[in-house]
Amino acid sequence: MRPAVYTFSSARTTVYYDSRFSELKKIVARKDTVLLTDEHVFGFHPTLFRDWNVIVLKAGEAFKVQDTVDAVIRQLIRMRAGRQTVLVGVGGGVITDLAGYIASVFMRGILFGFVPTSLLCMVDASIGGKNGIDVDEYKNMVGLVRQPAFILHDHRLLKTLPEREWRNGFAEIIKHACIGNASMFRELEKHDPGFYRKNAGQLAKLVRANADFKFRVVQRDEFEKGRRKLLNFGHTIGHALENQYELSHGEAVSIGMVSACHLSSGITGFAGSRRVASLIEKYGLPAQAVYNKDKMFRVLVMDKKRSRDHIHLILLEKIGRAVIQPVSIGKLKQLIDVIP
Ligand SMILES: NC(=O)c1ccc[n+]([C@@H]2O[C@H](COP(=O)([O-])OP(=O)(O)OC[C@H]3O[C@@H](n4cnc5c(N)ncnc54)[C@H](O)[C@@H]3O)[C@@H](O)[C@H]2O)c1
Repeated sequence: MRPAVYTFSSARTTVYYDSRFSELKKIVARKDTVLLTDEHVFGFHPTLFRDWNVIVLKAGEAFKVQDTVDAVIRQLIRMRAGRQTVLVGVGGGVITDLAGYIASVFMRGILFGFVPTSLLCMVDASIGGKNGIDVDEYKNMVGLVRQPAFILHDHRLLKTLPEREWRNGFAEIIKHACIGNASMFRELEKHDPGFYRKNAGQLAKLVRANADFKFRVVQRDEFEKGRRKLLNFGHTIGHALENQYELSHGEAVSIGMVSACHLSSGITGFAGSRRVASLIEKYGLPAQAVYNKDKMFRVLVMDKKRSRDHIHLILLEKIGRAVIQPVSIGKLKQLIDVIP
């Protein structure tokens, strides 16, 4: 299949959808390439990395920090990496965020590409050019925007992905359907996670449709001045919950999306909350949680999207159509209090 090319203001990304890892050697020269991965991906797929220069990191968000960046840079220097080196992140969003950041600062910037190995990374984290690290409890506090030269998908790598990570990926897919694609929403309603995990062709189509959706949103609003913000649907409330309770990102975003649907019904007249909640549950994610509404209100009011006495909320008008709407703080308080 011919690769897809997405053009940005000062870069282009070539995407090899539904490809194979073995194609990587045709995209980059082995001797000039360093693969960056984590211990889980390396442990499950050791043969993949045979004959490649590779740096293996500990897995997890806790390692998306400056210490890891410094250690990788020292290792690149020991490997005699230079300006011609291409750094390829092979892993989930932690690895691709790190790889993009390290490649952007090493020698003032070398080429980089991604082989996303988690569903979330294929449909979301690898796309859009945001690279960076966390500082203490502040997620993605340091980083820069730079597009990868290429992204290669090999769905076979998902075979070893833990159940919980599949659910995290599906939460973002449901988000895309809610904000911009009613027919994808209907398709997801017809099937379930097992269907996509068993049907490689259908999974490939779903992943491509979602990655393509995110690419197009980013292309139209590269510097996040407007519609790209819609990708945060469910995330503001979700992040507030993620910090308060032991929830995975996908679980928090799911509860956030359903809460945002309830707020939408009071503001835009959105009538699809029950459908969104059922779809979320069908994909093994929670649609409801008992949480402290006062705390939630305080977090929303503190949010960056606030202006004077209004806050900008991402709401649904209907399934497949999201809007950013200013809502007065008073009205927000009333609506939060009546969320079921
Ligand atoms: N740059 C962006 O625009 C953007 C967007 C969304 C999320 N993110 C970032 O992405 C990260 C979350 O991504 P993630 O969920 O992929 O996290 P992750 O990289 O931590 O991967 C999740 C877990 O799955 C494991 N894993 C990955 N692929 C596997 C495979 N094929 N087989 C077995 N195990 C595998 C990883 O080792 C890890 O334990 C966060 O740091 C988030 O900030 C970035």
